[in-house]
Amino acid sequence: MSAIRPVAEEFSAYLADNVGADPYPVFGRMREEAPVVWIEPLGAWVLTRWDDITAMLEDGERFGPLMNRPGTSSIFGRAILQMSGDEHRRKDAILAKRLRSPRHLGATIEEIVSGLVHEYGEQLPVAPEVADLRTGLTEPVPLGAIAELMDMGKAGSFRTWYNDIVAAGTSNIRQDPVVHAKGEAARDELFEFVTPSIEERRTCPGDELLSDLCSMEYEGERLSDDEVRSFTAFLLSAGIETTDRALANLVKHLILAPEQWRRLKADPSLASSAATEILRFRPPVQAVVRMANQDIEMGQTVVPAESKLMGFVASANHDPGRFDDPEVFDVGRFEGVERPNYTPIGPVRAFGAGPHTCTGSLLAKLEMERTLEYLLDRFDRFEFAGDVPPDTGIVLRSPVALDVVLHPAA
Ligand code: HEM
Repeated sequence: MSAIRPVAEEFSAYLADNVGADPYPVFGRMREEAPVVWIEPLGAWVLTRWDDITAMLEDGERFGPLMNRPGTSSIFGRAILQMSGDEHRRKDAILAKRLRSPRHLGATIEEIVSGLVHEYGEQLPVAPEVADLRTGLTEPVPLGAIAELMDMGKAGSFRTWYNDIVAAGTSNIRQDPVVHAKGEAARDELFEFVTPSIEERRTCPGDELLSDLCSMEYEGERLSDDEVRSFTAFLLSAGIETTDRALANLVKHLILAPEQWRRLKADPSLASSAATEILRFRPPVQAVVRMANQDIEMGQTVVPAESKLMGFVASANHDPGRFDDPEVFDVGRFEGVERPNYTPIGPVRAFGAGPHTCTGSLLAKLEMERTLEYLLDRFDRFEFAGDVPPDTGIVLRSPVALDVVLHPAA
């Protein structure tokens, strides 16, 4: 009889060899056997249960931001995720004024997103040719949306800055110094591009997000020049790869579960529910990071002050205490549940919880829904061009490439 491997060891093996691996069985074991556990390769206490992760995210007093370590904020400086308390509330309100406003979402932002989905969708090659859906659709839609929202569409290097900054951020889990240096160089170029227009936008703001960051005051508080620059770099990191990977996961699982695709074809009004379900079933952001501000007792464990914690929201989303049949991908699971999905009280943890809940969740939702609706309208079915593309990544996870054959609707 073979001995059962200790759960921390099994999880570490997944971290070391994560390409194509399925972490959900080991998440299940961790929730049962070791819900708060030190994982050496991550240098972090790992949490896997819905309740523990929610408690950590909601308690900004005992669990603070993790500052200035490679692979975190050090690449773009002090942005919104590194702020807390009153300062955070005021400065997040500046971002939220545009990103969460029904007026902007229903008009300009809707127009930008729908325009991008059609522009890139129409260029996709169809059967018998192979379409690279990540570079052809799931990346350029959120990338174009951020570029437009920030009035940076004219910056020729926008895509390169984005790629290098993102690679050096949370994805640089192995802290590769070459990747980090490249990210810093891209950030410096981005800062050089933004700096000259800050003063101008402060005095003569336009109707876009970068002008909001420069000119808006909330309860008498304005962002400093450094903060405008850091927020800009942070938005590149937070607002593109997340949605790109969420869409890649959605397409992948609709190909793997053709009956779910057919259900959506028969009833496209399920698009919103399907977007929420993929964010539960395979969230692109698997884990969120915090630092213990003091010694913290969690169950049987005391997490020492100043240690790093990682809450695997991917595991929380599969907590059987929270969801029936959590391992089943069901596009109708959230039928009829609208906006609450994307607020702190919502039923999935893909966007975090508590004060730092994703400010861009409504934009992400719009991008996901419009893209899915387009695919449903335009195509009968799709299939992988080769083998099933494996999921890759620890903090962010999805297939890296998505080569598909698209069959247009008659
Ligand atoms: C499917 C797509 C997305 C996912 C899964 C996602 C996920 C998350 C998560 C988990 C957090 C919380 C991080 C933490 O607590 O440490 C977060 C924060 C944030 N996200 Fe998103 N995000 C997405 C799209 C976007 C978009 C499109 C934008 C903006 C354009 C955006 C802007 C932000 C901002 C500004 C924060 C920081 C909020 C704060 O500190 O108060 N995100 N996101």
